[in-house]
Amino acid sequence: MATALGALLTASSGSPPTRSEVERGRQLYARHCASCHGPEGRGDGDAGAALPVRPADLTDGRVMNPLPDHVLARIIGEGGQAVGLSPLMPGWKAFLADRQIAQVIAYLRTLARPPFRPGEVLPVPGRRQGPEQPIFFSHLIHAGSFRIDCQYCHSGARRGAAAGIPSVATCMGCHKIVAARGNPEVEKLHGYWQRKEPIPWVRVFRLPEFVHFPHKPHVRAGLRCQSCHGPVEAMERVHAETGPSVLHDLRGLVGLGGPPRPLTMGWCIECHREMSAAGARAPLDCMACHR
Ligand code: HEC
Ligand code: HEC
Ligand code: HEC
Ligand code: HEC
Ligand code: HEC
Ligand code: HEC
Repeated sequence: MATALGALLTASSGSPPTRSEVERGRQLYARHCASCHGPEGRGDGDAGAALPVRPADLTDGRVMNPLPDHVLARIIGEGGQAVGLSPLMPGWKAFLADRQIAQVIAYLRTLARPPFRPGEVLPVPGRRQGPEQPIFFSHLIHAGSFRIDCQYCHSGARRGAAAGIPSVATCMGCHKIVAARGNPEVEKLHGYWQRKEPIPWVRVFRLPEFVHFPHKPHVRAGLRCQSCHGPVEAMERVHAETGPSVLHDLRGLVGLGGPPRPLTMGWCIECHREMSAAGARAPLDCMACHR
């Protein structure tokens, strides 16, 4: 108990939860949540048994620990659909004050096995960036919380030029069973599958036609996806600050510019220079990237 509370103290930036707040969280949990999530949080409550989507096992630290407080507060306050999960997880804003939601979260943190450690929490931005997609597909849930490997879905990355976006069939490999009923976002996926239509995802990282970028040599050289794409596993919507920016160029002119922005030529060249100095075969000749 002492160590779990110690972890909580460093976890929250605001006022740290006290023992009595955790206790109040436990009482609120027993009153409002246990019917579905079970007396000990294992997802086995009586009222939950009849639902088509199983109430989450809130003691599963592998799934819960990567999620920051503000994401849990959104799920509990606004309901599951606020993050793409099922609306069968109702929102509690009308019944619980923000302070009470924080107390419930403080209590949930003490249930986690393996135990909650603040260092594992992913840096999820408070405000969502990036384009809205045709289905609310969350990398935070798939790659962050459930830890599905990037290359399970983007298997082209180590084999070819394009990393590839997974087909509807790949999604259905899990979603014929996982959340197959009771989640409107997953129902949209089933709709594309039944109509045999591809999902019209909006592209985020895109180079001009005259540039050649192959994933395979980069991934095989041991570069992590995140070194170029940022912490995608922490993103509810994939976003990026890429491409040329007049503002960045102006800052550069007066000596304030940071490193080159991703997907500009300066960005490719800067890394290629550093890597070549370290013995890699990262080309600097024009024809390697322009054909
Ligand atoms: C009517 C049943 C019901 C009640 C009551 C309920 N939940 Fe849920 N909850 C669910 C279901 C169902 C899910 C799974 C949603 C999904 O997977 O799409 C869920 C999911 C969650 C999640 C997401 C877990 C994850 O893995 O991301 C959290 C957190 C949560 N509930 C907390 C609470 C708390 C706290 C309360 C009480 C204030 C509560 N729930 C009350 C049904 C319920
Ligand atoms: C390896 C298994 C797996 C694959 C492949 C997979 N999912 Fe999921 N998906 C999950 C799991 C597990 C959850 C969490 C379910 C829950 O808690 O209700 C989930 C949740 C979701 C949700 C609700 C939460 C969210 O992300 O907004 C949507 C929508 C979804 N998946 C869409 C997709 C789409 C679209 C694809 C294909 C691009 C896909 N999934 C591929 C396992 C998978
Ligand atoms: C050296 C930098 C770099 C690394 C490492 C890298 N990418 Fe990329 N990625 C890019 C660039 C640049 C683009 C845009 C390519 C284009 O438009 O031709 C891109 C595009 C993508 C796309 C969309 C287009 C496509 O290729 O299908 C996906 C998905 C993607 N990357 C996933 C990944 C994954 C997953 C990994 C790790 C296994 C990874 N990337 C590693 C630089 C990188
Ligand atoms: C369950 C399947 C799945 C997993 C796992 C997954 N992705 Fe994705 N990824 C997608 C889908 C679907 C899209 C297109 C929709 C979107 O942008 O969110 C996408 C989009 C992307 C893009 C943007 C492509 C573009 O439009 O330029 C990048 C970059 C990316 N993923 C990287 C990663 C990385 C890095 C990981 C691991 C940390 C990862 N993905 C894990 C399914 C997945
Ligand atoms: C984070 C570092 C990094 C970034 C950013 C990067 N590269 Fe590379 N690139 C490498 C390394 C390392 C290699 C050498 C791989 C090897 O040893 O085969 C390489 C190799 C290449 C090659 C040669 C592939 C081959 O078949 O030999 C091309 C072409 C290339 N990069 C294009 C690009 C382009 C275009 C961009 C920008 C859009 C880019 N790279 C950004 C690190 C990077
Ligand atoms: C490592 C990859 C790489 C190499 C090597 C490279 N370029 Fe580029 N180049 C790019 C990328 C990526 C862009 C697209 C940048 C953008 O959209 O801002 C680009 C854009 C350009 C453009 C369009 C104008 C602009 O600045 O956006 C010209 C012209 C150009 N390159 C010329 C060259 C010449 C000449 C060389 C050899 C001295 C060269 N490049 C070497 C990656 C490379």
